[in-house]
Amino acid sequence: MKSTDAPESANQYRQSESLSQTGIVVFGATGSVGISTLDVVARHPEKFRVVALTAFSQVERMVELCKIHQPEYVVMVDSNAAELLHKALSQTGLSINVLSGPQGLEKVAILPQAEYVMAAIVGAAGLVPTLAAAKAGKRILLANKEALVMSGSIFMNAVRENNAQLLPIDSEHNAIFQCMPALSESEKQANGSLSDLGISRILLTASGGPFRKTALNELDSITPDQACAHPVWSMGRKISVDSATMMNKGLEVIEACWLFETRPEFIQVVIHPQSVIHSMVEYVDGSVLAQLGNPDMRTPIAHALAWPERIESGVDRLNIFDIASLEFEKPDFNRFPCLKLAIEAGEQGGTAPTILNAANEIAVDAFLNGGLSFPGIARVVESTLETMTTTDVDSLETILRVDSEARQVAEESINSIKMRVH
Ligand SMILES: NC(=O)c1ccc[n+]([C@@H]2O[C@H](COP(=O)([O-])OP(=O)(O)OC[C@H]3O[C@@H](n4cnc5c(N)ncnc54)[C@H](OP(=O)(O)O)[C@@H]3O)[C@@H](O)[C@H]2O)c1
Repeated sequence: MKSTDAPESANQYRQSESLSQTGIVVFGATGSVGISTLDVVARHPEKFRVVALTAFSQVERMVELCKIHQPEYVVMVDSNAAELLHKALSQTGLSINVLSGPQGLEKVAILPQAEYVMAAIVGAAGLVPTLAAAKAGKRILLANKEALVMSGSIFMNAVRENNAQLLPIDSEHNAIFQCMPALSESEKQANGSLSDLGISRILLTASGGPFRKTALNELDSITPDQACAHPVWSMGRKISVDSATMMNKGLEVIEACWLFETRPEFIQVVIHPQSVIHSMVEYVDGSVLAQLGNPDMRTPIAHALAWPERIESGVDRLNIFDIASLEFEKPDFNRFPCLKLAIEAGEQGGTAPTILNAANEIAVDAFLNGGLSFPGIARVVESTLETMTTTDVDSLETILRVDSEARQVAEESINSIKMRVH
């Protein structure tokens, strides 16, 4: 006798299988975090199903990802790339909807068949689609810290009002999340602040990047390839430069303030070159809880995909005996002026973080394209912050307008630096 639950055909089997799988949209699928996400997802075909993949313009890589993961939708933001992808896919026999432009990102952000959205677009371009996912009540796995830094309260309100779940993918924030008490929604509302939870401080670790020991007078001649050669993590070029300037850690201070409802003065940045401790939480009784692991983004990704459960991530076990020593240093603001600028912008609030982020994106781009020196990045960010007046953040329109103005001011600052040099 057949069980009434047994699927009668392959098609029925696929349908019943897809009902038990969680649909996922991967924004920034061709990037470093996107690829790590797809690696973890592919280890658990019974749990996850890729509904949509997005990228800006890397067609060949996307064709390969489509062959492996067979999504229903692909978005290439660049319209020429979307046309090329469409042609390439038509030769594979795969039936995949190809969309283009930023509106394509917004469309896949709200697909009902995807419960999870991995937000791994780099920079401000991730804000609008990630916000759309929040408004649609998705579980958002947030790697794209720039989106939260730019929009702060608007983003967090969208998460709260639409019962979305926000899980941090940055390894530090994921570590902090793991070291905090697990609370239900009602407990979270009753215990608003860190001190209600008995937490006295967050210790946010940083590797210190490739120039932790470089003589200050040698920083002028740093090349983009040197800045992107991170000693521990393998990442996209923009975040690699942000790690070298420690702007990344500054953005993470602001990100942590929004995620954990705190202020920059409760966060101590700690340089920890081995990057084995991913961050720590200090409690009023003197306990300090830390999360350790090999530096591999698949750990926080697997944690956020499975939360509150745990799944295998493919990451090698940490061999505690191989760690000869763990070092900790205070960051030096003379060496890392971007870190200081970001912490100050976080303290100031309003549109200051939006201005900081936009100026940094323009300055890093100019550095990567040979149009600005490495120390020039901090100068451009500082002069943009000094030139612009900060206001309250009242709407997405305000954020997008301030972001666009700050980009113009930063471009002007770069031009005036170039005029002085020539
Ligand atoms: N890498 C890490 O270990 C790490 C760790 C923590 C947090 N994060 C954060 O995660 C985000 C992604 O970092 P990543 O290192 O993975 O970056 P990445 O390797 O440079 O990848 C960026 C992804 O975003 C896409 N993209 C670029 N510009 C876009 C645009 N204008 N519109 C839509 N998509 C666009 C890229 O598509 P194409 O490939 O077609 O250009 C690519 O898929 C960043 O916010 C970063 O701060 C990264």
